[in-house]
Amino acid sequence: MRYKILIWLLLILMSLCALYREYYFSTKKLQMIYQCWSVKDQPELQISSNWFNSTYNLNLIHKHMRTTTWSAPIVWTDTYNESVLKAYYKKHPVTVGLVVFAVGSYLWYYLGNFLTSANKFFMVDQRVIIYIMLDDFAYMPLITLNRLRTLKVFKIKRQRRWQDISMMRMKIISEHITDHIQYEVDYIFCMDVDQTFKGSYGLETLGDSIAQLHTYWYKESPDKLPYERNESSEAYIPVGEGDFYYHAAVFGGTTSQVLKITRECAKGIMNDKKNNIEAVWHDESHLNKYFFLHKPTKLLSPEFCWDLHNNQNPDIEIVKLSWSFKNYEYLRQQV
Ligand SMILES: *[C@@H]1O[C@H](CO)[C@@H](O)[C@H](O)[C@H]1NC(C)=O
Ligand SMILES: *[C@@H]1O[C@H](CO)[C@@H](O)[C@H](O)[C@H]1NC(C)=O
Ligand SMILES: *[C@@H]1O[C@H](CO)[C@@H](O)[C@H](O)[C@H]1NC(C)=O
Repeated sequence: MRYKILIWLLLILMSLCALYREYYFSTKKLQMIYQCWSVKDQPELQISSNWFNSTYNLNLIHKHMRTTTWSAPIVWTDTYNESVLKAYYKKHPVTVGLVVFAVGSYLWYYLGNFLTSANKFFMVDQRVIIYIMLDDFAYMPLITLNRLRTLKVFKIKRQRRWQDISMMRMKIISEHITDHIQYEVDYIFCMDVDQTFKGSYGLETLGDSIAQLHTYWYKESPDKLPYERNESSEAYIPVGEGDFYYHAAVFGGTTSQVLKITRECAKGIMNDKKNNIEAVWHDESHLNKYFFLHKPTKLLSPEFCWDLHNNQNPDIEIVKLSWSFKNYEYLRQQV
């Protein structure tokens, strides 16, 4: 009897030791990563520095907005000067994170294509860490990445409905930023996996908080935008208010800003869940509410997330990222 108790005590002691050691090593590692990259918050390039040209070309028929009422640049292909940007970031090097979720059928259907195209077009010549959140390591495609690119793969829990996946995403991103991403990169983009890069997607997109104008809604007045209109939801935006409709397929910013965005959205989603309400466009409704209250510092034109099924119009000079072909019903059954 006494013998057994002794063994139990010994076992408990040993597991305590193991716990302590694990903790000790992981903190140490984090500190090392921190020193290695020495992440710091960069000041966002101001419009006044000559990277951005907000002057319309009066000869062109299409004269899309180039700045918001709160003076944030709206980046179109013909608004930025790449050589100015390259010179600036050469002096102030940054590391950019790209977070992507690939679960269920989306994993084998889209991830390979997304990664291959990101490798080719996303932040060429910059340090990039791609964070992949997937539910099955077995389907992780083997992709050879260029120099300066790193992959980090994490396993997440399966969700029953695709709506739950997209809503859990906010919570999971915020947890990963707190745990490690904040020590590893300066900027983060969060993107849907069912997209393909088609053209250079680079430094012009970096900013403190980055929002994507939605392909379908970028010309509409706020009254017509599909915001959440039920007052019981945390995502509620009253009719007559609002600025733009932002697409949740792309958002980003500095690690501290994206932490705020994802935390607030996750909080709104959870509170709605408690009250048994689900916003009309799920996490996208909450993202729109966040950007309604906290204006983004940079907007990306629909060229940065275009639906190729939409007829291309003269606004769209170069498609940089496009939605992949979707067979919604098929994919949803598979998730
Ligand atoms: C800004 O763009 C307009 C219209 O495309 C052009 O006429 C003008 O020369 C540009 N300004 C600079 C400084 O590049
Ligand atoms: C970009 O900026 C540089 C430096 O200000 C200037 O020499 C060059 O002409 C600009 N390029 C364009 C296309 O406006
Ligand atoms: C708003 O949502 C609540 C909870 O789901 C529901 O009971 C109510 O009828 C909705 N109101 C409107 C105006 O749709």
